[in-house]
Amino acid sequence: MTTTFYWQEQPVEAGPHETVLDALLRQGHKIPSGCRSGVCQSCLIKVEGAVPVAAQSGLSDGHIADNLALACQCRAISGLRTGPPGIHAARVLARVTDKRWLAPNIIGLRLAANLRYRPGQYVTLWRDEHTSRSYSIASHPDIQDTLEFHIRVHEQGRFSRWVAEGLKVGDLLPVQGPMGHCIYKGESSRPLLMVAMGTGLAPLFGVLQDALMQGHSGDIHLVVAAMQAREFYLTETLLELAGRYPQLKLHWVVSTTEDLAGCHLPLVRAGVEEYVTNCFPDLNGFGVYLCGAPRRVHALRRGCYIAGAAMIDIAADAFLTCDRGELVGARLAGH
Ligand code: FES
Repeated sequence: MTTTFYWQEQPVEAGPHETVLDALLRQGHKIPSGCRSGVCQSCLIKVEGAVPVAAQSGLSDGHIADNLALACQCRAISGLRTGPPGIHAARVLARVTDKRWLAPNIIGLRLAANLRYRPGQYVTLWRDEHTSRSYSIASHPDIQDTLEFHIRVHEQGRFSRWVAEGLKVGDLLPVQGPMGHCIYKGESSRPLLMVAMGTGLAPLFGVLQDALMQGHSGDIHLVVAAMQAREFYLTETLLELAGRYPQLKLHWVVSTTEDLAGCHLPLVRAGVEEYVTNCFPDLNGFGVYLCGAPRRVHALRRGCYIAGAAMIDIAADAFLTCDRGELVGARLAGH
């Protein structure tokens, strides 16, 4: 059975399981969209009256108060009245100021943009009206005046390949956000455990810098995990920080069986869950930050909870694999 909802006062027919976004796109409306998973917030719409709860998951209090919703998460309910979000989906134009390889498959991208953010948040970058990806911000606004991103380049990644091959210094691209709540909470004396898997280092590097700048005095354990040693990046910067801040303890973990001879880092060969479980058997009182692929993040979150960390003290950012095979750094869950 079909239902009818309204877009800018015009009736729109929707199938029984269609979302507002699917129905609008199917009928030729030009609605911006990206991940279709409730993460990038590209598909913001305004709703009149009651908004389905699931359609506001992850939105800011301000967006919720303004009756905004995510069209990709909004079931098409009969009689629902919807329209464009107005200035709420505003994007700012950013200029590419620098682009360089940080590791064989990771590009560091710097953008100049008039945007206020907290370290650890993420934004959505737009290539064109139909191609966007969300990436965590790796920079700190008090340390550098550009936004920095660590973008893993995938062979089949439509967006990341464009960043690697098409985007040039001086180019402009729209940025939407910031979003996300995986930020330093000011727990200045409590021990912190940060686990960064792959480019999960990007948001945690921002959170780490924020903690140090705010005078965090408790121990900060940063576990950096990668499949292979050559995937580690920012190593000199992190080593330099650890030299300056004795409360910062670095742990480098690789999971493959490659020959590690000649590597200058004190690497440990282990699975990241195994390493965290063995090294941190009691996490009672810890603040925990986890960032990486969803399966790992979810397993670690469970493990940290079992080891005594309170759920409310575990902030988790999981990378989302989107339908076009690209990875985006975006917040799926956590506090
Ligand atoms: S397309 Fe709806 S949140 Fe990304």
